[in-house]
Amino acid sequence: MGKILVTGGLGFIGSHTVVELQNKGFDVIIIDDLSNSSMDVLGGISSITGIAPTYEKLDLKDKPKVQTFFKTHQDIQGVIHFAASKAVGESVEKPLLYYENNINTLVYILQELQKLKPANFIFSSSCTVYGQADELPITENAPIKNAESPYGNTKQIGEEIIKDTCKVTPHLNAIALRYFNPVGAHKSTKIGELPIGVPQNLVPFITQTAIGIREQLSVFGDDYPTSDGTCIRDYIHVVDLAKAHVVALQRLLNKSTYSNYETFNIGTGTGSSVLEVIKSFEKVSGQKLNYKIADRREGDIVSAYADTTKANTKLGWKATLTLDDAMRSAWKWEQHIRKNN
Ligand code: WQD
Repeated sequence: MGKILVTGGLGFIGSHTVVELQNKGFDVIIIDDLSNSSMDVLGGISSITGIAPTYEKLDLKDKPKVQTFFKTHQDIQGVIHFAASKAVGESVEKPLLYYENNINTLVYILQELQKLKPANFIFSSSCTVYGQADELPITENAPIKNAESPYGNTKQIGEEIIKDTCKVTPHLNAIALRYFNPVGAHKSTKIGELPIGVPQNLVPFITQTAIGIREQLSVFGDDYPTSDGTCIRDYIHVVDLAKAHVVALQRLLNKSTYSNYETFNIGTGTGSSVLEVIKSFEKVSGQKLNYKIADRREGDIVSAYADTTKANTKLGWKATLTLDDAMRSAWKWEQHIRKNN
């Protein structure tokens, strides 16, 4: 079995995907520039699987270095591309950082894949490409709306770049996985989410509040047109999400006649409100969470949850872990990292 390159493989979703790839016998090589991760994650991965993945520190914005890397790794059978900047708010303040880091790097990798035969590519996309969908649950045919942020725009542009490249590169097989909201951690507590600074996302803010790092969670608005007034999202356990990458890769490696560019929604298919997430956390942790209702956050959409029929039928993949499983693992992870810091 050839080597699978995982860019951003020391990141939150990347590290969980490396574990699932190794569990399936794949030989993994990780590229990560450590801008949003640490070498400890490498130890975490090998302590779970017993296999130390090959790792190279490399800045994918450095085109000559990317070219040299692929020249010296001609045995790469597939690439799973996680490496990108992903903070919505930061992307509004620093758009060029996001266009350089998320778009240039994608172009450099695709230029190298055009020379590899075969070339299999999985792209880390996001439900953010849909904006506020007109119909729920959201299918892959839902219209792509104007991006709400430069981050979301880089995902939309990224998908277009891949689609156009696949049109002129018959031997390049690509899948874009549109993640909904990734949450939770590996049950071993050896790897998990490591937000730098004040978490932007809901679940790490909940666990940091519960452990005492944050004073209080602000619930951004309870006057939305939903059952309890708070926004609805599709929170998918990161381990289920990681497994989706493995089955997507296997679909590409066992290539048949279908299109050489496909997109799949990866979510649970169930929407949960912010208050329901808090309730789930309080139930599994046995802790009362200190939160208040605050003003709405600029740019938030009301509701998003996936129609996962296409992934269920074509990938044979379905999420199996629940919101409670995700909250339980996120809380165990938070307690583990605080105990060891
Ligand atoms: C979820 C809900 C907030 C924090 C973003 C990106 C998406 C992906 C995941 C990268 C919303 C509410 C949050 C808080 C709150 N990122 N919230 N208090 O915005 O759905 O998605 O992160 O791939 O692309 O868009 O996730 O976790 O920030 O927010 O009330 O302190 O929680 O208003 O309703 P979001 P989130």
